[in-house]
Amino acid sequence: MDKVTSKVRAFYETYPYPPGGTVDCDGYHARLLLSYIERSAGAGEKLHVLEAGCGRALNLRAAARLQPDIDFTGIDINRVAIREAQQAASSEGLTHLRFAEGNLLEASSIPPMDGGYDLILSYGVIHHLSDPLKGLIHLQENLATQGVIALMVDGSFGRQPLDRYRDVLTMLEGMEETASSSLVRARALAHVAEHTLFKGNCWQGTADVDEVEFVDRCLHVHENSYDMDSLKQLLEAAGLRFIRWLEPADWSIDHLLEEPSLRQLLSQQDAFQRFRLIERLSYRPKLTFVAAKQAVDSRHELSMADIAQTTFCHSPQVKMVSQESGGSSYQLRLQAPFEPEALCEQQVLALSELSSSQLSGNQIANRLAESGCSHDAVFSVLYELEARELIYRPNTVFSEVTQ
Ligand SMILES: C[S@@+](CC[C@H](N)C(=O)[O-])C[C@H]1O[C@@H](n2cnc3c(N)ncnc32)[C@H](O)[C@@H]1O
Repeated sequence: MDKVTSKVRAFYETYPYPPGGTVDCDGYHARLLLSYIERSAGAGEKLHVLEAGCGRALNLRAAARLQPDIDFTGIDINRVAIREAQQAASSEGLTHLRFAEGNLLEASSIPPMDGGYDLILSYGVIHHLSDPLKGLIHLQENLATQGVIALMVDGSFGRQPLDRYRDVLTMLEGMEETASSSLVRARALAHVAEHTLFKGNCWQGTADVDEVEFVDRCLHVHENSYDMDSLKQLLEAAGLRFIRWLEPADWSIDHLLEEPSLRQLLSQQDAFQRFRLIERLSYRPKLTFVAAKQAVDSRHELSMADIAQTTFCHSPQVKMVSQESGGSSYQLRLQAPFEPEALCEQQVLALSELSSSQLSGNQIANRLAESGCSHDAVFSVLYELEARELIYRPNTVFSEVTQ
């Protein structure tokens, strides 16, 4: 193990991540993530998921509870976190979830999987590696040909306030301090930054976050961060291609640039150039996205002509939330809750009742015909719901299929 990795391990063994007991990432749904790419029917029927750098595995354990027919593996260099995760998983009876101590920088310490893993998750890890490219190449080599990799790396533009804060701390203290010896001064300085560097942006509140979160943000021993250009370079060098953001709404600025001449200029930019604009115009501290091997394509757009035969599933990221008035509305990931529009209402409700089952467009239309909806109306609603990501088109085998 190289010196930087040993330091990173010692840091995380003192402050195992994530803190607390709550799940904080809605990006562990294997079938949903796999639906973002073109994948031939029947590829890898039993799904295998690896989380590289799972830490205490709060998110991974939650994912395993929700997806009992999928095989999960978590690895981390942090022996303390792995031990805790292992104990928790076995006391929860999660026999399809295993853990191993593993270093992304040593290919031989990644548990091998026949045909590769269908999904590899690695959130908040690559930017802490002494050699990020090497680690990412190892993950790419362990990915199935038709698999996806979901990554989160720090965004350099979004981190600027935190980097400036860290510069000041280093100017005051020098480089020698450890996270624990620096903690009191670092908190005090963060309270100052609340009125200056962190004011009004995504770092507001940092001074008061829990200790593990605080040291992870403010006193880390080794981290890189990425902008669009360096991220593109990293992915290409690792043999990967960008498929999509996990939260595409974060990467749209159409609503910000309403002035017609700005809109006109914006419409002339390609997607990558738009992302470069957005990272400069706003704070995006985390770059969370899905990538795949270079030969793999993003899923084709749904066509109206195909809807009858296409299979749909309710998105696991849509939740029903009750309102104070007693009615219910829906929420997709972290976006604002919305009430189904009149036209969509019955269909959304009917689909929510399907939950983890899957039905073709025709089957859904036949069901809804009883309530007076024409096939055409149902098909256009399905088209719209898919575009809004409230339903999705699975391209993997499900254990339960509703006829
Ligand atoms: C910020 S935490 C993220 C934990 C988890 N992915 C999450 O999102 O909650 C980073 C994790 O990466 C692990 N890590 C850092 N370098 C690693 C390496 N070379 N190999 C494996 N894990 C590593 C750390 O031990 C730590 O648990």
